Amino acid sequence: MTSNETLKERVQNGEQVEPSEDLPEEYKRAAQRMIQFHANSEIVGTLPEKQWIKKAPSLQRKRAISAKVQDEAGHAQVLYRTAETLGLKDREEMLNDLINGDSKYVTVFNYPTKTWADAAYIAMFIDGAAMFRQGSLTASSYAPYARGLRKICYEESFHVKHGEDIVRSLATGSKKEQQLMQDAIDRWYEPTLQFFGPRDHMSDHTDELFEWGLKLKSNDELRQEYLENFYVPKLEKYGLEVPDDKLSYDEDAERWNYKELDWDRFLEVSRGNGPVNDERLTDRREALENNDWVRRAAGVA
Ligand SMILES: [Fe+2]
Ligand SMILES: [Fe+2]
Repeated sequence: MTSNETLKERVQNGEQVEPSEDLPEEYKRAAQRMIQFHANSEIVGTLPEKQWIKKAPSLQRKRAISAKVQDEAGHAQVLYRTAETLGLKDREEMLNDLINGDSKYVTVFNYPTKTWADAAYIAMFIDGAAMFRQGSLTASSYAPYARGLRKICYEESFHVKHGEDIVRSLATGSKKEQQLMQDAIDRWYEPTLQFFGPRDHMSDHTDELFEWGLKLKSNDELRQEYLENFYVPKLEKYGLEVPDDKLSYDEDAERWNYKELDWDRFLEVSRGNGPVNDERLTDRREALENNDWVRRAAGVA
């Protein structure tokens, strides 16, 4: 078996590893946790937008949002299959971990999509955030994960375009539509910045993920890149306001300052006590039960 030290040295030099190699248990466990979290996030991510397929305002919008939801389910499938190559858990076990609350997903999906503008916001700004995070992971040390992400990122870029088209139409529409869009931004600003995870000094697992080359950029680094290169310029472009008086660019430190985010609330939501955590898991549980016969007929359950 490859020793921990040898593997850490190799991945720090930019090498990627394949599942055919005899990898250390610690590496496999860290990769499993990270990829399973990501797969769960993709599948739970279908739920807040799925609710808007029937209510989307035109046939064209219904087609676009249902295609996006289908893509996200496909991303989950790719990622569960990728995690299976580690040899620790099969897909069924991971699907059960999710509905039993034994494995987490990104907290942002525990907030409700109250309006059509929320669905647009998610597609543009949450998928936009996902692109920053996933883009940095296409060089992750676990080669099957890095390969899967290249395909996923390609599709995410279409999701962002789909979201931006709706955001543009609302932001340049009637006063009521503009207000609908601004309200969505006000609701989602904080959960969006928290999408990147806790501040660097708050996380337990970050060091380990860096050492194994599984993660290449820190949460704070990604948050900064996103604010600088996407969030702030896009909101400015559409005349939308950032609901944060403290948001400003510090020229000397070359970084964005923003209000202190409510991390206690973040931890509460992540522990299962957010506005719609129960609803999301109930939805998933029912989907799994209702589709059980299909999965058995297809020989995958
Ligand atoms: Fe996705
Ligand atoms: Fe997406």
